[in-house]
Amino acid sequence: MILNHTIEALLDRRTIRSFRPEQISEEELADILHAAKYAPSSMGMQNRHFTVIQNKKLLSDIVDATARNGGKYSPGHTPFYNAPTVIVLSAPEAFKYNREDVACAIMNILLAAYAYGLGTCYICSVVDGLRDAEILPQLKLPEGYIPFGCVALGYPKENAPAPKERRDNDISYVR
Ligand SMILES: Cc1cc2nc3c(=O)[nH]c(=O)nc-3n(C[C@H](O)[C@H](O)[C@H](O)COP(=O)(O)O)c2cc1C
Repeated sequence: MILNHTIEALLDRRTIRSFRPEQISEEELADILHAAKYAPSSMGMQNRHFTVIQNKKLLSDIVDATARNGGKYSPGHTPFYNAPTVIVLSAPEAFKYNREDVACAIMNILLAAYAYGLGTCYICSVVDGLRDAEILPQLKLPEGYIPFGCVALGYPKENAPAPKERRDNDISYVR
């Protein structure tokens, strides 16, 4: 296998669930968002929106809203892992490929952040909280957009555990 920076990032990026409290720099944030904007999107329409949250009160309100909407957490669980930045990804509710566009942009965020030595966690468990009537207007979304996921982002406090063994039964060839 060719080992270049791209392949290395694909193999070595791991989910981080423990963050240092200091905020990431404005330059890191801008570069990561810039890389995210270059993710593939259906018909090149760039039908997705990024909401950067660096506000502890709003993050805590989202967790409360998630619980209000049926989300169940084990005691002591912090869904955002105290990350100082969370980027919410939204797309038009009525657009056929909304989830796919969001997932592609999220992957760019995970990999760009990795390049800067930042830790990330792709989080979907709070989606019902993000869509809560009290939270949604605070995300400053274009008309008709709803959230599909978010990424917790920050300087990692500890190394991620080693990856699980990869499955060996998930490739079929038709030749
Ligand atoms: C669609 C999706 C939703 C996820 N939601 C959560 C989540 O809500 N909370 C969380 O801690 N991790 C979440 N993850 C992270 C996965 O648990 C993680 O990617 C997986 O365990 C593999 O670990 P790795 O990213 O280090 O390879 C999510 C990942 C994906 C792709």
